[in-house]
Amino acid sequence: MPLVNTKEMFKKAYDGGYAIGAFNVNNMEILQGIVDACFELNSPVILQVSGSARKYARHRYLYHMVMAAVEDTGLPIALHLDHGSSFELCKDCIDGGFTSVMIDGSHLSFEENVELTKKVVDYAHPRNVTVEGELGQLAGIEDEVNVPTGSYTDPEQVEEFVSRTGVDSLAIAIGTSHGAFKFKPGQKPQLRFDILEEVMKRVPGFPIVLHGASSVSPEHVELIKKYGGQMDDAIGIPEEMLRQAASMAVCKINVDSDLRIAMTAGIRKYLSENPKHFDPRKYLGEGREFIKSVVRHKIENVLGCAGRADG
Ligand code: G3H
Ligand code: 13P
Ligand code: ZN
Repeated sequence: MPLVNTKEMFKKAYDGGYAIGAFNVNNMEILQGIVDACFELNSPVILQVSGSARKYARHRYLYHMVMAAVEDTGLPIALHLDHGSSFELCKDCIDGGFTSVMIDGSHLSFEENVELTKKVVDYAHPRNVTVEGELGQLAGIEDEVNVPTGSYTDPEQVEEFVSRTGVDSLAIAIGTSHGAFKFKPGQKPQLRFDILEEVMKRVPGFPIVLHGASSVSPEHVELIKKYGGQMDDAIGIPEEMLRQAASMAVCKINVDSDLRIAMTAGIRKYLSENPKHFDPRKYLGEGREFIKSVVRHKIENVLGCAGRADG
């Protein structure tokens, strides 16, 4: 099976009441850890690359490594641009073999967001590439473009945005945020399921995306701290909330921080326990195992997409 776009994946996920994991890929060990877990559990997967990952690892290397995973596993795999910041970046990724792109116009005015997103859709669709847009602002990455705090998605805008742009899926802001420090200590984690329900009424059957959806495993944070790292007050989204979202219209759940935390925990542990070792294959191999185990855990306990690779 070649790389696929997200169309069929999302249709099946919506109808089946589960979500597809969208995992950020930055190097070979991360990619292999993700894909090994998906292979064992016969799960479809979205492998996503941010603009900065593309700068770090370079487009061709990432593309060909992902193609190796496609060849190796035969799984339905989509290669997706995460947080595309411009038409040009989306175009480069589409021209360079990606099957899905996100255009993140969430920091723009509604009209500017519609215009930019539609421009990307008009380029992507004739090339069989699916497009994710975003309405509302998460705290976190969008802060870099001068949004001091996030703002929830306004459900009233969703229908118009979807119909005017023709996007295939939409990221919404209902209380998740990027990174490992999503809530203040003592603060009760909360997601605005009322907004999600309202969105579902306005665009029935339409796939919704959750960014900033890492759960920040306390066990991994403890390992990092035990082996010399500093991660006080790291708090993520409770898994039961993500399961609830996956049973509703959320068809794509984005995970990056949990992979970073897992890999760091594995590598710190390995190096501390084996101070004489200096072969990168040893500690990166341990990092890869940690990635695999966190992805397995998510597929089985959060996403519900195990066994869904065959339809
Ligand atoms: O949402 C952002 C992702 O976690 C990617 O982060 O730009 O540091 O690769 P990055
Ligand atoms: P986390 O930082 O919660 O893993 O979110 C990642 C993400 O949304 C990538 O786009
Ligand atoms: Zn994101």
